[in-house]
Amino acid sequence: MSDAVEGRYFREVLGHFPTSVVAITTTDSDRQPRGMIVGTFMSVSLEPPLVSFLVDGSSNTLRTIRTAGRFCANALAGNQERLSRRMAGGPNRFEGTEWEESPLGNPVLAGIVAWVDCTVEKIVELGDHQLVVGQVRTLRVESMKTPLLFFRGGYGDYLSSAGLLLDRLVGW
Ligand SMILES: Cc1cc2nc3c(=O)[nH]c(=O)nc-3n(C[C@H](O)[C@H](O)[C@H](O)COP(=O)(O)O)c2cc1C
Repeated sequence: MSDAVEGRYFREVLGHFPTSVVAITTTDSDRQPRGMIVGTFMSVSLEPPLVSFLVDGSSNTLRTIRTAGRFCANALAGNQERLSRRMAGGPNRFEGTEWEESPLGNPVLAGIVAWVDCTVEKIVELGDHQLVVGQVRTLRVESMKTPLLFFRGGYGDYLSSAGLLLDRLVGW
């Protein structure tokens, strides 16, 4: 990395860009659930319907997704910080977590906001990460819960300004 973009400073500044918290899930060859947390999920194209996320090239989950050829993106809710911490590392990521199979056979986690079930369209190497592009097969809004967010190295919940206004009006 060049002196102009020192690693710690890069992370520090980029940490000031808020992200969503999305659990990317799949299953291994024994149909065991596998997954990880990403803050890089985004929609890519409407025609055809494509979404994507970026994953470290050394990721175990990436290896499983390559083999399975499918994944599900689960948008976590504001009250799922503990679930996110568990799914962002360690061996027992699905312990105590309820889930159902998506149409493609990927875990859809209980209590989330929305999910997008995908087959892998393309994986593109970009620096030390891989851009995983998925073709959307099924997608659904599960609840009207507020989403979990990540900002300046910490978790937070979303508060809409419309909601604030409503609260103020109701409070009158
Ligand atoms: C809020 C948050 C966002 C994250 N975003 C990403 C991401 O976009 N890409 C990535 O590769 N790892 C990301 N991580 C880290 C992975 O979840 C973590 O390294 C995980 O252990 C990878 O698992 P694996 O190596 O078994 O695939 C994020 C972690 C957190 C807490």
